[in-house]
Amino acid sequence: MGGEGQGSSPHRAAIDSLARRFPAPICRLDHLQDGRFAFDVDDDTYLVVQAAGAVHIVDGLCPHQYFPLEFAHIEDETVLVCPLHGWRFDVTTGVSPDTPQIALRRWPAEIRSGAVFVSEPRLFESDSGLTEKP
Ligand code: FES
Repeated sequence: MGGEGQGSSPHRAAIDSLARRFPAPICRLDHLQDGRFAFDVDDDTYLVVQAAGAVHIVDGLCPHQYFPLEFAHIEDETVLVCPLHGWRFDVTTGVSPDTPQIALRRWPAEIRSGAVFVSEPRLFESDSGLTEKP
């Protein structure tokens, strides 16, 4: 009580600092189902999408009515199509090819040693780490 918790220790600060400098692992490639892997950080949902020979990390919920995009299908190799009302997003840019002012947020991702890494983990700004969706 009243003491410093683990989250505020100097060691934790150093670990956080290191983690923000290097790519952070999200999942193994073989965890992708149908080329997709949804995960949560705090209250936000994200989606790894494998398309056109690369991996992409985008918002996991459709900006229209927040339907989970893990159930979307891919058309034209890189376009994620929300199954609820058909909004479409190019995962290489996040932008809707139909309405360019609408876009998913997007994070740089890469594959290393059979795993998907986010290249800029600080963008998630999470202290609680990554959790796979049930
Ligand atoms: S919720 Fe995705 S298009 Fe409506």
